[in-house]
Amino acid sequence: PRAHPGHLHKARDGPCEFAPVVVVPPRSVHNVTGAQVGLSCEVRAVPTPVITWRKVMQSPEGTQVLEELPGDHVNIAVQVRGGPSDHEATAWILINPLRKEDEGVYQCHAANMVGEAESHSTVTVLDLSKYRSFRFPAPDDRM
Ligand SMILES: *[C@@H]1O[C@H](CO)[C@@H](O)[C@H](O)[C@H]1NC(C)=O
Repeated sequence: PRAHPGHLHKARDGPCEFAPVVVVPPRSVHNVTGAQVGLSCEVRAVPTPVITWRKVMQSPEGTQVLEELPGDHVNIAVQVRGGPSDHEATAWILINPLRKEDEGVYQCHAANMVGEAESHSTVTVLDLSKYRSFRFPAPDDRM
């Protein structure tokens, strides 16, 4: 076939490929121990990205360590679904019940063959058990 000057040829069919972009990052949340906390992360990418949740931690040596979730945490669940728009995917992480040790920085990481993106949010946990004596005084306290 002859070349057509001034005419653009599509390299291939389908939408252009592009690296993930976090369009709605997870929000930072705070709550008390025993509560339920959910984070969501909305990503645009073609082709469909692999989205993972990770907890950002420090090793004793001070270097950053990423723990892939849910790992063996029985109180953590993760889910990924296409949408809400075309070329988008949304990932959720649900922590229930929230424990003091769940406090920290969470990373939503998305990658496809073109590139990767990430976004962070912070979960802050108030340890309610430390304050229980203030809220629920023992019966003896009344007299
Ligand atoms: C804490 O979690 C509960 C559900 O367990 C929710 O109803 C409440 O709104 C949350 N509080 C905050 C500050 O997000």
